[in-house]
Amino acid sequence: MQTKFSKLGFILATAGSAVGVGNIWRFPYIAGEYGGGVFVLTYLLALFVVSFPLLVGETFLGQFGRKDAVSSLEAIAPEGKKYWKVLGFSIVSAFLILAFYNVVVGWILYYAYISLTSLPQNSQEAKEAFDIIASQKPILSVVFFTIGSFIVSWIIYRGVDKGIQRMNLFLMPALVVVLLFMFGYAMTLDSFFKAIEFLFTSDLAKFNSEAVLVAIGQAFFTVSVGVGVVMTYASFSDKHQNILHSSLWIIFLDTFIAIIAGIMIFTFLFANNIPLSESVGLAFKSMPVAFASFGKIGSLLAFMFFVSLAFASITSAISLLEAPVSYLTQRLNISRAKATIFISLGVYVVGLACLFSYMDGFSFLSIAKKPLFDVFNIVTSSVLMPLSGLLMAIFIGWVLDKRFVFNYMKERGFKNQVVFLSWYYLVKIISPIILVAVALKELKII
Ligand code: PHE
Repeated sequence: MQTKFSKLGFILATAGSAVGVGNIWRFPYIAGEYGGGVFVLTYLLALFVVSFPLLVGETFLGQFGRKDAVSSLEAIAPEGKKYWKVLGFSIVSAFLILAFYNVVVGWILYYAYISLTSLPQNSQEAKEAFDIIASQKPILSVVFFTIGSFIVSWIIYRGVDKGIQRMNLFLMPALVVVLLFMFGYAMTLDSFFKAIEFLFTSDLAKFNSEAVLVAIGQAFFTVSVGVGVVMTYASFSDKHQNILHSSLWIIFLDTFIAIIAGIMIFTFLFANNIPLSESVGLAFKSMPVAFASFGKIGSLLAFMFFVSLAFASITSAISLLEAPVSYLTQRLNISRAKATIFISLGVYVVGLACLFSYMDGFSFLSIAKKPLFDVFNIVTSSVLMPLSGLLMAIFIGWVLDKRFVFNYMKERGFKNQVVFLSWYYLVKIISPIILVAVALKELKII
């Protein structure tokens, strides 16, 4: 398999995958909802104890295997244990995530558009705007969903180098610049310190075992591990890329952007005492009102905010599409164009089902009273991702030979025995224990 990413290209592309709506939209509201400081600490802990080691592990598997997720695992699995390749089918989760993710991309594009034309001015209007796109005007919603899906598929159709790498080399720095600009503006506001206080002081009353589960789930979702995406990107990385170094950069960028976005969002909300709406509402219902309250500059801030969300979400969506496309092109020898069209159409149809599951009159598109959109969201991030994370940890820690792993890793940042062993035992022992505990807790066994 040929290398297609430069060293920087790989870091930015994988960071682009990691930084998504999970950081700018989901992290702030769950941090607020589950107790602020204690939640952020738990999240950071989960990030370093579980997600980071698995990010390193998944990069290792892809960089070594140099093919799509299934073939890479097949290549690296010892003789007699080739059946571990089934773990590569975690790319099915990437497909499922992309279906609802593209719906969110559509909403974001719609909001970028109305920021310039008809930004909602108060809570009532903001609620109406969200209802229009999410549940009342299917055609409008489908139009924006289609535009988003098309952009994502187009980039993948262009290929790893001309599509993915090029877009990330441009969009990631652009995202950081836009966010830093907005952050700089937020720093001039009085509510800046209130926002910091809100995010970093702990409200223990809101912190419970559910918060711990949410923190771990978020830590997984945010670095994109457990769905074959990192493995696929790593298969295009330089053979000698320093894995420790690239993983640290990816985690750093991901965390930095989540925290910057969190502080900025709450600064804007507190500046004019905008009521916080919960969950989805924070970015789509509260933020527009916060921006409107700034008068003239508000429209510009709103536009910048939704454009940055669009950048972040598109660089994640393309990684989700590349994983199954890589599988079809490399495993079944289908051309990139055909594979892209085929998977994109599949995602489009399933995505439409997610989109319509929120529309008035389509309540039949639900499972156990939950709209399909929510079902996909919950099943992927709380069940499938942690499950494949657990299997991956077992594969690396218990199936592969330790000496073999060390020999590969020592050339790629893990020369120091202490560093190597810390990582190795986090993967082999600590993360499985945590993930099993989480599973038992979710199944209400403990
Ligand atoms: N990490 C992305 C986010 O934070 C979502 C994602 C998950 C992307 C899994 C790719 C794979 O929004």
